[in-house]
Amino acid sequence: MAIETKTKYKNMAILFSSIIAAVALVALVVGVVVADAAAVVEVYRMIQYDLRGVPLGSRRAAMNHHASSNLAVPGSDLSRTVIILPIAEANITMLNEYLQSKRLLGGLLLLFPHDYGSPTDSDSEGDGDDNYAVVRKHIAEVEQWLIHNNLPYPVYFAYEDENLINILKEVVVNDAAGRPATAMTGGYKLVIPVADAKKLPPPTITNIQGWLPGLRAEGDNSVLPTIAIVASYDTFGAAPALSVGSDNSGSGVTALLELARLFSRLYANPKTRGPYNLLFGLTAGGPYNYNGTHKWLRNFDQRIRESMEYALCLNTIGSSSNQLWLHVSKPPDNVFIKQIHSEFVDVAEGLDLSVELRHKKINISNPRVAWEHEQFSRQRITAATLSQLETAPELFQHTGGISDSRRMVNETTVVQNIKLVAESLARHIYKQQGKQIEVFAEGSSLAVNPAYVRAWLDLLSRTPRVAPFLGKNAPIVSAFYKELAEHTMDVSYHHDTLDSTFVFYDLTKAQLSVHQVASVTFDLFVMLAVGVYLGLLFLILLVTTKGFDDLIGALRRPPSRKVKST
Ligand SMILES: *[C@@H]1O[C@H](CO)[C@@H](O)[C@H](O)[C@H]1NC(C)=O
Ligand SMILES: *[C@@H]1O[C@H](CO)[C@@H](O)[C@H](O)[C@H]1NC(C)=O
Repeated sequence: MAIETKTKYKNMAILFSSIIAAVALVALVVGVVVADAAAVVEVYRMIQYDLRGVPLGSRRAAMNHHASSNLAVPGSDLSRTVIILPIAEANITMLNEYLQSKRLLGGLLLLFPHDYGSPTDSDSEGDGDDNYAVVRKHIAEVEQWLIHNNLPYPVYFAYEDENLINILKEVVVNDAAGRPATAMTGGYKLVIPVADAKKLPPPTITNIQGWLPGLRAEGDNSVLPTIAIVASYDTFGAAPALSVGSDNSGSGVTALLELARLFSRLYANPKTRGPYNLLFGLTAGGPYNYNGTHKWLRNFDQRIRESMEYALCLNTIGSSSNQLWLHVSKPPDNVFIKQIHSEFVDVAEGLDLSVELRHKKINISNPRVAWEHEQFSRQRITAATLSQLETAPELFQHTGGISDSRRMVNETTVVQNIKLVAESLARHIYKQQGKQIEVFAEGSSLAVNPAYVRAWLDLLSRTPRVAPFLGKNAPIVSAFYKELAEHTMDVSYHHDTLDSTFVFYDLTKAQLSVHQVASVTFDLFVMLAVGVYLGLLFLILLVTTKGFDDLIGALRRPPSRKVKST
């Protein structure tokens, strides 16, 4: 009896070890297939936000689906498919039709041209390349579509590289041959194993201000007037991690910092210190109706407020164009407006630039604030916005998103426009209206510094600045403070919180693994092979340990409880 029991256990042990071997083999095969990622790519997740409780942007983050390049297959189920599209070729009509059809989609991966955004070399700087300008315009349109829709699938951006291009080519060929990637046919699988995005707390918005006090003439006891130079520095775009806003308003911020540097030199000498205070304000919340500007003004020192003569807001002054607009909300025949405009026009002529006045009345009951100067106008402070944009932008239009990259900003134009503002201000401050004086002459120690301008444009073009992802202690915010402190006095922060009109979600970057997966047919073949192997192994082990007779016996013997019953 004891011997029989032993044999039985031995047989079972052999059986178990065979199964374990087989499982190990399967795991090995599957493991090899899964671990063999064809590429691991840095990807940038699309914005996810709520506007007054309405869900917008991409509402999913995790991805684990097969790749396809074709959104147009009628009737096909794409709920487990990620569409890869070069963003320059993305067809908005098609994307929109698909969205409106309420069919599910596994995800969307949008590819930027590999050199998108970076200035290639100084020759091609600015929009010298017409083709590039066309691509940029298209990307801006795709971006607007993405931002203003509720997309119930994950959307990611990546830069094309050789690996991705080859994968895409293969996918396109397979799609064209009617062999789209599925569980049955194999192909590429795109995997981003992340949890759902979480709501972020209301973002802090940080304004930074610096002050250059003017000099009163001897015996003059009146309060000195103040001119404010303002630029909004934060951005909003389809991909928060890529929204660097080189032009909007990297160019404005750069101009503000250079103006602070130039006038600090003039003001350092009592002989050239002007009878005007200069207030420099870098504001946040620009994309959200200039909410930070509103909060900054509400907390203004009463004395500063009473001394304000006008505010000049700088916005989008960096692309290759010699046309600028001075946007105002006071009637153009207002004396102050007329004077400011004519100072600009006078200087512009000498620089081969043109500055036209654009008037748009503000509507107090409309929550939309299209220009920064409108926040000043609402507080009854004379103000204007200098911009290359002719018309008032819609919400999230021209807010420094993915279409606003370094390559579109022309350094020479920025330098020219800074000179325009500096000379116009100088004529106002020193009361030299209509005279052909030049204060910031090229080659002089007061000239606009192109290296300084470039350094700031480059830094800003590398630094995404979407408020909910910036935080109070963001290095770029400290850098602004430090730079203003270098040239101006009484530099201070003003922190506030954006109200809950906008709610944002986290996860702006991820790692995408592209796996080449075997088809189900291949998997079945492997399983079959393993099955045969398992059977053979079992037989061989049994025969070698127990002999042939025992094998027959083992197969014939009915399952019995004999062992136990004795
Ligand atoms: C901006 O600020 C004002 C007052 O602080 C608020 O009423 C308004 O809703 C804010 N939000 C936006 C997005 O404009
Ligand atoms: C001002 O804005 C409100 C709210 O958006 C709107 O109903 C009204 O028609 C506007 N008025 C004018 C004169 O545009």
